[in-house]
Formats: sequence, C-alpha cells, structure tokens
Amino acid sequence: MERDGIFGLKSAFFASALFLTACAREPSSQTGEAGQAGSTQTLASLVISSIPASEAGAGEAKSAAELEKEKALKNPYPNDLGPEKIDEEVKTYPAEAQAGYKLMLARCAQCHTSARPLNSRFAEPEGKDDPAKEAAVAGLKKSNPEFFKDGGVWQVEAAVWKRYVKRMMAKPGCKIEKDEGKKIWQFLVADSAKRKLGANAKKWEAHRRKLLSEFRQKYPERYKELEQAKDL
Ligand code: HEC
Repeated sequence: MERDGIFGLKSAFFASALFLTACAREPSSQTGEAGQAGSTQTLASLVISSIPASEAGAGEAKSAAELEKEKALKNPYPNDLGPEKIDEEVKTYPAEAQAGYKLMLARCAQCHTSARPLNSRFAEPEGKDDPAKEAAVAGLKKSNPEFFKDGGVWQVEAAVWKRYVKRMMAKPGCKIEKDEGKKIWQFLVADSAKRKLGANAKKWEAHRRKLLSEFRQKYPERYKELEQAKDL
C-alpha cells in the first residue's frame, strides 16, 4: 500500500505522460529482435550495425521509435561495457525484486542492452516514501561520505530511479506498461541497496572504476563529452 503511495503521489504527471506520448505501441516494430541480437554482439558492432548503409540517406522516414533506438546505441555509456545479467546476485533478492529483474531484462533492452541500467551509477535508497528516502540519503551522507565524492561511481539520490524509469517510459516507441515500470523501479531500488550501497559498496566501486577506465580507452571522445556534461 505504501509503495503504491510513492508512485501514486506524482502519478498525475506520470499517467498523463504515459497516455499522451509514451508507450504508443508500434504495430510492426522490429526493435525487439535487434535489441536481443545486441546481447550476443559487442558494443562496437552494435553501434555499427544499428546504422545500415542502405538506410543512410535513403529518404525513408524512420519511426520515432527507431530514431530513439539509434540515439541510444550511437551514444554509448560506460554502463554498456558491463554484464547484461546478474542472475546469481538476484537469487538472494526478495521474490518481488526477482520478478522486477525479469521484467527489466525484457523491457529495458529495447533500445540499449540491459547492461545500461544494470551497471548504472544511479543508486536510490529503500524507504517507504519520499521523505523516508530523503532521510536515508541524509543518513548515508554522514555514514558513507565516499558515496557522494565521485559521481562516476555512485549517484545517490532519493528518487533517481523513479525519475529515470519515467524518463525512459516517456520515450517514443517505449513498450513498458505503467505497472511494469513500477516493478522495474522497485527492482532497481532493491538492487541499489544490495550491490551499490551497504556491504558490497567496495566491490561496486571497483566494478565502476574498471568500466570507466575501459570506456575511456575505447571511446575517448565520448568519455570527454560525458565528463563535460557531468553525465559520467
Ligand atoms: C524507447 C527506447 C528506450 C527504452 C525502452 C529504454 N531506454 Fe534507457 N535510454 C534510451 C536513450 C535514448 C538513452 C540515452 C540518454 C537519454 O536519452 O536519456 C538511454 C539511457 C539510459 C541510461 C543512462 C543514463 C545516464 O545518464 O547514465 C539508463 C540508466 C537507462 N537508459 C535505463 C533504462 C531503463 C531502466 C529502462 C527500462 C525501464 C530503459 N532505459 C528503457 C532509450 C531507451
């Protein structure tokens, strides 16, 4: 009930964004297939294969969904270099979060791979409502100041995942229903607590630093761009 409350508070905006622009189902979209292919390809080949020569300048109108996917693949993130699954870790999560994980794998790999959310620096603490989450962030600032020193490793905010799931759902061609978005969000919060904050924080730090340095070598220009935009 309380969790419904959290999502419900701002649901007027959420619902209207959803119904007006988001999740317009594409009748014959092929994005799902290409998204799955991504899991067996390297990022570099994905980026290239996402822009077939035959399409470039062919004058054929692309759907908003196709354009969104191209945008997602053309602009890689360090996150993309990490694993696309965390099956072993998730076995220890509550049943609800495990279900949210499965949905995330299915729904959040439409435009980029599931590596993008799974290896993200975003961390949202658990809490029964927004004020409880704000209080949790304030507590972490005291107990773990390191979480707030390097934005490339951790970006801890009371509603960062709620905001991002909504942002993704508002994208053209997105195929995520409102109740699915909520479950995915709840998984991302549980996962923040398990893998990024708390006992595994050091392991998380090492993981993110490795991704950042690999990314810097592989995509130096994009690294600079993200650094300047404070999006690393
Ligand atoms: C309709 C296409 C689409 C879908 C579906 C989608 N994304 Fe994205 N995602 C994008 C694009 C495009 C970007 C590039 C940044 C932007 O436009 O916000 C992105 C970027 C991201 C980032 C990186 C943001 C950053 O600054 O580090 C994360 C994390 C993310 N998505 C998570 C998700 C999650 C979680 C889902 C499922 C709820 C999802 N995405 C579903 C298109 C999509």
